[in-house]
Amino acid sequence: MVVWSAAASEARRRFSSLCLRISVAGPHPKRRRASLAAALHIFLIDSFNHTILNHSKDILFETERLYLRRLWPEDVGLLFDLDCDPEVMRFISKGQPTPMARMQNEYLPRILSYYRSWPPLGFWVAHLRASDEFIGWFHLRPDRMQPHEMELGYRLKRSVWGRGLATEGSRALIEKAFGPWGYRRVCARTLVVNLASRRVMEKAGLSFEHEFLWGLDVLPGCSEEERRGVKYSACVGGLTESSFEQSGDAG
Ligand SMILES: CC(C)(COP(=O)(O)OP(=O)(O)OC[C@H]1O[C@@H](n2cnc3c(N)ncnc32)[C@H](O)[C@@H]1OP(=O)(O)O)[C@@H](O)C(=O)NCCC(=O)NCCS
Repeated sequence: MVVWSAAASEARRRFSSLCLRISVAGPHPKRRRASLAAALHIFLIDSFNHTILNHSKDILFETERLYLRRLWPEDVGLLFDLDCDPEVMRFISKGQPTPMARMQNEYLPRILSYYRSWPPLGFWVAHLRASDEFIGWFHLRPDRMQPHEMELGYRLKRSVWGRGLATEGSRALIEKAFGPWGYRRVCARTLVVNLASRRVMEKAGLSFEHEFLWGLDVLPGCSEEERRGVKYSACVGGLTESSFEQSGDAG
């Protein structure tokens, strides 16, 4: 039932996007015909991918040990539980959990709004392929400070840290971003003191760019020292096999 209603809402979403593509082509009949043909082509491929390849779990892609799938409103409890671990939230909110009301009213609508975009961006729930266990999430979204760049992010359950999973998911997202999705630049930001996150960025092939200060809107009540951040990035073509080799293995 859930699968069918999800499939129906996905089909509705894709159909609206098809209509939008045609309507923006303007009144000229030739332009509209060309646009209709192109839009139908994309619609059919997209529907085929969705129905045949992504099946009931709405999987974005799989890696050796993980699969990443879209998030549904009923997943809010998973996000809430993840943010209840003070160690997970140590460099995000000084260990404070995210209140359920904020999760429901602010984060969830924002996360769900991303799925209307193509190429893909937004938040992707991560599971272990072997057991289907939920382990956290990854995101790829326009960077807050430089929105023409795609910002990579991740938050995983403490029980799976240190197994190379953040690196594995990040590498796969970056490869997709520069490959089939056609993005030009990927970046990631964290606090200077979040050494595990910085290491993941390096191992995923990103290079240190510069330090900056997070705003008080992001880290309210924190001193300048506590708001010191670092930015890492890579551009298309700048990420090669050798950059993976130099940065070490995923494990
Ligand atoms: C950051 C995070 C995603 C890393 O996940 P992970 O699956 O453990 O990452 P990986 O195993 O792929 O790599 C972690 C690397 O950091 C290293 N590391 C971990 N803690 C470290 C520390 N305190 N100092 C230095 N390096 C550290 C690990 O040794 C490993 O590097 P290595 O393979 O060279 O040994 C995870 O710790 C997390 O979810 N933290 C809480 C949320 C968070 O801070 N997200 C990032 C916000 S920007």
